[in-house]
Amino acid sequence: MDIETLQTELMAAIDSSDTLEGLEAVRVSALGKQGSVSALLKTMGGMSPEERQTQGPVINGLRESITSTLAAKKAELETAELSRRLATERIDMTLPAHETPRGTIHPVSQVMDELAEIFADMGFAVAEGPEIEDDWHNFTALNIPETHPARAMHDTFYFPDDMARDGQKMVLRTHTSPVQIRTMTSQEPPIRIIAPGRVYRSDSDATHTPMFHQIEGLVIDKGIHLGHLKWTLETFLKAYFEREDVVLRLRPSYFPFTEPSVEVDVGYSVINGKRVIGGSEGWMEVLGSGMVHRKVIEACGLDPDVWQGFAFGTGVDRLAMLKYGMDDLRPFFDGDNRWLQHYGFNALDVPTLSGGVGA
Ligand code: DAH
Repeated sequence: MDIETLQTELMAAIDSSDTLEGLEAVRVSALGKQGSVSALLKTMGGMSPEERQTQGPVINGLRESITSTLAAKKAELETAELSRRLATERIDMTLPAHETPRGTIHPVSQVMDELAEIFADMGFAVAEGPEIEDDWHNFTALNIPETHPARAMHDTFYFPDDMARDGQKMVLRTHTSPVQIRTMTSQEPPIRIIAPGRVYRSDSDATHTPMFHQIEGLVIDKGIHLGHLKWTLETFLKAYFEREDVVLRLRPSYFPFTEPSVEVDVGYSVINGKRVIGGSEGWMEVLGSGMVHRKVIEACGLDPDVWQGFAFGTGVDRLAMLKYGMDDLRPFFDGDNRWLQHYGFNALDVPTLSGGVGA
């Protein structure tokens, strides 16, 4: 068979291949060990130099054109195959899942939803602030001046000096209290907000992680006094722990941004060697709170003779541990699926007051 005929036949075979397997068979028949083009290439060894000079380029040209045509056809078939698969393997995301979804809602998310639900019922809106905060909002406006020992107590993560903004050193916020300032400077009283979110401190052991969660509460109105604070915290803690026999103990304390300041303990009973919230066999500290300091109200541009209020702050992770029985904080942030399966919540267990917040 002459080379021209062989080329025509091979080109036609390639052209008419409509599967990758068919195309591979054509390749083997031409370029495989026993292939027709390979056979021609072998004949070059027995040619005279003159013959090789004329036939060599023709045979090599055949091999090259077959090789490149095969490659082009292969790419074409692969593209067609991909388009076919994309068209047929489409997943309809609106169909119900065949199995119960396996993921869980993290206890921190669940508790934050529970808290938002409880406080929404008392007329509190949810407020937010940045996690990268400036020194003024995190400390100064909260009556924690430069030289105040509380700054050292907070184990603050500071940003380098060259990242200062408007002359303010930037920090990872050490508490959610700066959201009090952001709210008072951006909205007119009366104010009733809670602010859940991440906070950061350079601290790490079984009960401390460098990042953890707090929730802040703030009420600013006229004629607000400690009685309002006590009622609010009692109502909140009874709803959260889902028990009527929650007993609170308010102890005088000190926070720079409140005056007077109180620390709140909840009573527990010991049942089968375990601490259970309710009763008053022992006391656990759960909250910091107090009446918002005049200086803080002034720093936000409000008149403290007109507007008063109370504030409170507590750890969300700690609230979760007390209610759901974890005794180590670190696994909260390990992302270990076994822990999440054990302590996580079903995505459909959305907390509601009517269903009991811990649904
Ligand atoms: N910011 C305080 C802390 O992180 C907690 C706190 C105490 C918040 C008293 C308050 C408060 O709003 O009134 O330790």
